[in-house]
Amino acid sequence: MTPAMAGIEGLRAVSLNASHIADGLALSSEAGWNQNAGDWSLMLESGTAIGYQASDGQIVGSALTLPYGDQFAWISMVLVAARWQRKGLATSLLRQCISTLEACDLAQILDATPAGARVYGPLGFAAQFDMQRWAADEVSIAAPTTTHSRPYEPADLQSVLNYDQDVFGGDRSRILIGLASRGANCASIAKAGNGYLFGRDGRHAHQIGPVCADDADTAIDLLTHALSRVSGPVFIDVPDRQDKVVAFLKEHGFAAQRIFTRMFRGSPAGFGDPSRMFAIAGPELG
Ligand SMILES: CC(C)(COP(=O)(O)OP(=O)(O)OC[C@H]1O[C@@H](n2cnc3c(N)ncnc32)[C@H](O)[C@@H]1OP(=O)(O)O)[C@@H](O)C(=O)NCCC(=O)NCCS
Repeated sequence: MTPAMAGIEGLRAVSLNASHIADGLALSSEAGWNQNAGDWSLMLESGTAIGYQASDGQIVGSALTLPYGDQFAWISMVLVAARWQRKGLATSLLRQCISTLEACDLAQILDATPAGARVYGPLGFAAQFDMQRWAADEVSIAAPTTTHSRPYEPADLQSVLNYDQDVFGGDRSRILIGLASRGANCASIAKAGNGYLFGRDGRHAHQIGPVCADDADTAIDLLTHALSRVSGPVFIDVPDRQDKVVAFLKEHGFAAQRIFTRMFRGSPAGFGDPSRMFAIAGPELG
């Protein structure tokens, strides 16, 4: 802890593991986020998480790093309980994540909420692009009679991992394998091999993403196929540049809910091919 962190006596720096899923869920739920226990479990298994623990045992701050190959890692789940905010906890957690990743020569990437961006800017993160979360309470799309998409099957996994690495620019196989097992209802593949869509359950809504495709028409075909199979509330996080997909979502009753900004530190050029990223997996996963 730094001298600037006054008023946090009694807090203890801890590593987080599967035994902290309930605490993590309490933090993300307090912030109104969509992660459920399955998301925390997947991230804790796939990455390294740190936090601060209060004297009553409660985890009051968290941050997590997910290694995505040999060039960059994701920083995720930066959360501080309301009554511990503005005491330097997020800054301290970020500094620890940054120094761990710098030691491994990995650039640092994250998708920031507006409040998070105010913490990350002074630490050297630069904005790359903005995206919106589009939300709908219920989507009514009829199953298409002709479609260039079909349901995902386990035998598609390797080709999805290869395609994703090309578009995303890093290896997030562990995460995608975890999502594949939770997206049975809507996971879809472009029959021509030029795109895929995964989805998963969430605390508030079904989260659609990633949607990666060679072009917007393929992405919209995948979305039509997937959305016709989902019921209840849906979230999808779409980079602002994907105006054709944004228009499609608006047409089907989606409304903008919140903004995220992709931010980089240590790699101004970025990775992958953002023109083929039509929806991210979620701000916590990239
Ligand atoms: C964003 C969040 C993690 C910040 O945690 P924190 O421990 O309060 O942050 P810090 O104390 O390290 O803040 C450092 C600086 O960032 C800025 N900052 C942090 N939160 C801010 C806010 N809500 N509004 C304006 N500036 C803010 C301030 O400049 C602050 O310094 P100061 O308090 O001396 O003015 C916390 O508000 C939170 O959990 N919010 C909900 C979840 C979320 O949005 N997480 C970020 C995900 S990307």
